[in-house]
Amino acid sequence: MLTVAGTAPAWPSDPGPVLISKSEIAARVKSLADEISRDHQGQRIKVGVVLAGAIVFAADLVRHISLDVEIFFIQASSYGDGTVSSGRVLVRRDEKVDLADAHVLVVDDILDTGHTARALLDELGSQRPATLRIATLLDKPSRRQVDVRADYVGFEVPNKFVVGYGMDHSGSFRHLPSVHALD
Ligand code: IMP
Ligand code: MG
Repeated sequence: MLTVAGTAPAWPSDPGPVLISKSEIAARVKSLADEISRDHQGQRIKVGVVLAGAIVFAADLVRHISLDVEIFFIQASSYGDGTVSSGRVLVRRDEKVDLADAHVLVVDDILDTGHTARALLDELGSQRPATLRIATLLDKPSRRQVDVRADYVGFEVPNKFVVGYGMDHSGSFRHLPSVHALD
């Protein structure tokens, strides 16, 4: 890293230890994609990628899915005081993608309190899709405040802040190939 002597870098430099390695992720993502392909056999699916945390997971996942796939993007922003999920989540998505009678798979990075997943299911469900399922790379069940579950879970993780493989801390670490525990 290039730093001027005596100055600290303006971003955190250490993502912490690896919690889930690149090869563990690759194997799990492939088996989730196989499961999704089996469950949706003969169907065309519309994959809603939740920005920005799910982009790396979704990019790997869709490349192993053996179905006709259309991809669209979803923005889910919690409003409230920032750090704590307020339970009020604003969902925006590409309106040009018609979800009525479609088989929809939402792909997200982490299922934490569950507020985001609940809002996504409510908002996308209001378009009357034929099926609506959620795939999440990580699940932190100990943090749940809303009774919601994902149909496809990569890994259950303990209550630690994680980064890498799409997930960030103040914008950093999304590009890392493994999942790290930042404490
Ligand atoms: P929920 O509404 O509390 O379930 O929030 C889920 C969202 O919070 C995830 O999709 C992430 O974007 C973010 N999030 C929750 N925990 C973490 C973490 O440990 N690292 C990075 N982002 C997280
Ligand atoms: Mg997210």
